[in-house]
Amino acid sequence: MQAILIGSAAGGGVPQWNCRCRICSLARAGDPRVSPRSQSSLAVSADGDRWVLLNASPDIREQIAATPELQAGPPPRAAALRGSPIAAVVLTNGDVDHVAGLLSLREREPFALYGSAETLRAVSANSVFDVLAHDVVTRTVCALGEAFEPIAGLIIELFPVPGKVPLWLEDESLQIGAVGESTVGASIRANGRHIVYIPGAAAVTEDILARCEGADLLLFDGTCWFDDDMIAAGVGAKTSRRMGHLPIAGVDGSIAALDQVAVGRKVFTHINNTNPVLIEGSDERRAAERAGWDIGHDGMRFAFAPQAEARPVALEETPG
Ligand code: MLT
Ligand code: MN
Ligand code: ZN
Repeated sequence: MQAILIGSAAGGGVPQWNCRCRICSLARAGDPRVSPRSQSSLAVSADGDRWVLLNASPDIREQIAATPELQAGPPPRAAALRGSPIAAVVLTNGDVDHVAGLLSLREREPFALYGSAETLRAVSANSVFDVLAHDVVTRTVCALGEAFEPIAGLIIELFPVPGKVPLWLEDESLQIGAVGESTVGASIRANGRHIVYIPGAAAVTEDILARCEGADLLLFDGTCWFDDDMIAAGVGAKTSRRMGHLPIAGVDGSIAALDQVAVGRKVFTHINNTNPVLIEGSDERRAAERAGWDIGHDGMRFAFAPQAEARPVALEETPG
């Protein structure tokens, strides 16, 4: 099994178009300590030939351009002039940073779209997504807790995690941390290997711990360091928890909550541009690394030999 973290930032990316916070400014200035990052997405494949995207970010065009494995390739690759290695897109929620990229996949290219009933309902209720013609792009509701096989040899199971409805669907009935169909994690298996992908979660539940146990790789919500990152950076009034994201640090943060779980490798992704872990060498980055976590970066590749090896091997890793 192979995985490529094609987008490692939260909504807005790094740098964010309208932001002059310290981290966005460093990234914009080309400071080597802060790599630019595109918005949250993961590509997975059982055979390196056909790929499934977990979420479709607004940056998908640039993400494909940066990832040879996802490109149409030169004419000899296929008999037809048009075609794509991307066979399916699986949604983990309906947030803009996870669905807007669907609009860029609209050139009458067949692929399969999967998500929870609630997320696919939100997509279907918005007719702009009908640019993905129904006779070309199939939409399949995934029952949570039931495995499906979007491409031969790659098995995915979506499971509920504490979260909330997408920002653009918030109303007075908003419940943050509700466990339901709004926000899901994905358990991805191929060739006896196992990746757990949870780009958004408001809390770590017993069910999440059980699902992560023994996985080769966990990619987890790293939106904020402290609950008040955005307030402290002076860019907003919302806490991490209000946005449905468990912060990393503190006695009740994700590092502590996932400390005892036995996984081959732990990587934070969906990292907001205000999170100081994005600065290489920062106290926060070092603390996360000391706790056994890597900080995800765009183009981070993982390859897993069938069954044999206990830990994933990172290929072509560049400093993030
Ligand atoms: C989130 O992860 O909280 C959302 O992507 C926020 C947004 O829609 O910008
Ligand atoms: Mn997001
Ligand atoms: Zn910023």
